[in-house]
Amino acid sequence: MSFPRIVTSEILDELSEEDPAAQGSRRDLQRVHRVMGTRAIVGRALETLLASRPARAPLRILELGAGDGTLMLSVAQKLKLCLSNVELTLLDRQDLIRRETIERYARLGWRVQGCKKDIFDWRRENSRDQPVCMGDRWDLIVTTLFLHHFEASQLVALLDVIAASTERFFACEPRRDWLALLGSHLIGALGVNAVTRHDAVLSVHAGFREQELQSLWPAHGIQWQLDEFQAGLFSHCFRADRVGEK
Ligand SMILES: C[S@@+](CC[C@H](N)C(=O)[O-])C[C@H]1O[C@@H](n2cnc3c(N)ncnc32)[C@H](O)[C@@H]1O
Repeated sequence: MSFPRIVTSEILDELSEEDPAAQGSRRDLQRVHRVMGTRAIVGRALETLLASRPARAPLRILELGAGDGTLMLSVAQKLKLCLSNVELTLLDRQDLIRRETIERYARLGWRVQGCKKDIFDWRRENSRDQPVCMGDRWDLIVTTLFLHHFEASQLVALLDVIAASTERFFACEPRRDWLALLGSHLIGALGVNAVTRHDAVLSVHAGFREQELQSLWPAHGIQWQLDEFQAGLFSHCFRADRVGEK
């Protein structure tokens, strides 16, 4: 049976930062991540992608659609790799990062800054079409529960700039299948609010399966090692690692 991808605006994206329903839904996300096993999934991916790097080499990471930054904090706290010189930029169109979160990163030795920006402004600033390349270079770009917000044509444009800006990329998104859909309908059992219950179902319909993200990744003659796979019960992941000298 086919399961076409349908992208619909989520309620959380329409609510202001101060809206209590939005704040509640963002807290719910932490519970949802625990059930999805996101921390372990992202942690394993980062350990694989970064394994060959010298521990003391400077590492510049950009997280897209980072929300309040707490998911990546939980990943950083459990990483088995020793990363001592990390600069992390958390990009989101809302300003959600609390000072306490930045302090907790600092205790790990990670220097963190928020970047309040719409992803398509970031894309434009970093585009190959710019007469002067304003683009920043990253060792790793990572994202969770973010790419599914966008239609395929937007993703093509976005992934093109991501590929031009980084050595490595990892995305962990909702999986579009019947088990994930069932889970999204039962999410109320976690005690989450109406916004989370609504958006969870939409997220699965807009999620990914098979080689869908890989098919949108640019070619441009550059060698990438690509991998796209199911993870846990409800997640779909895509990993891109530039081949050759970095
Ligand atoms: C479902 S939340 C995921 C947050 C975080 N990555 C996580 O997994 O906990 C999606 C995030 O994407 C952000 N977002 C949505 N559309 C965006 C856009 N066009 N540009 C930048 N951020 C965006 C939202 O503000 C929100 O914080």
